[in-house]
Amino acid sequence: MSARRRPAGVAELAALARQARSLAHAPFSRFKVGAALRARDGQIVTGCNIENASYGLTLCAERVAVFKAVSEGLREFDAIAVVAASPRPTAPCGACRQILWEFCGDIWVHVVNLNGRTLSRRMSQLLPVPFDSRNL
Ligand code: THU
Repeated sequence: MSARRRPAGVAELAALARQARSLAHAPFSRFKVGAALRARDGQIVTGCNIENASYGLTLCAERVAVFKAVSEGLREFDAIAVVAASPRPTAPCGACRQILWEFCGDIWVHVVNLNGRTLSRRMSQLLPVPFDSRNL
């Protein structure tokens, strides 16, 4: 985690996600993913996917980044970059969309492949009719 005065741009966030991707533990799928989540105060928390031989216990890069950030006391976020090696950029899975919505709200999601191809969407576009605490 690093404290910054000026919010990192998309390129910088993607570069940090790419670095985090190199630490992915993905011996089963061999599909490595990295994420970099930016807090409103400029701090950036990264994550990578962590797989388990009991496959269902696998954690995606996005959720690792969110849970690391929340566990460090961060609560306000404005963007996440996700990097994977697929021809079309890899958008967060359904479970991660739910977690991102709950903890980060309507943040920008920048999905980037290794060639730098980038797709940017707001969470409200990725999860247009969410279930959240307002339903309870
Ligand atoms: N994965 C992520 O980390 N993030 C995504 O957005 C999609 C999928 C991981 C989970 C698993 O380790 C591997 O990619 C293959 O599904």
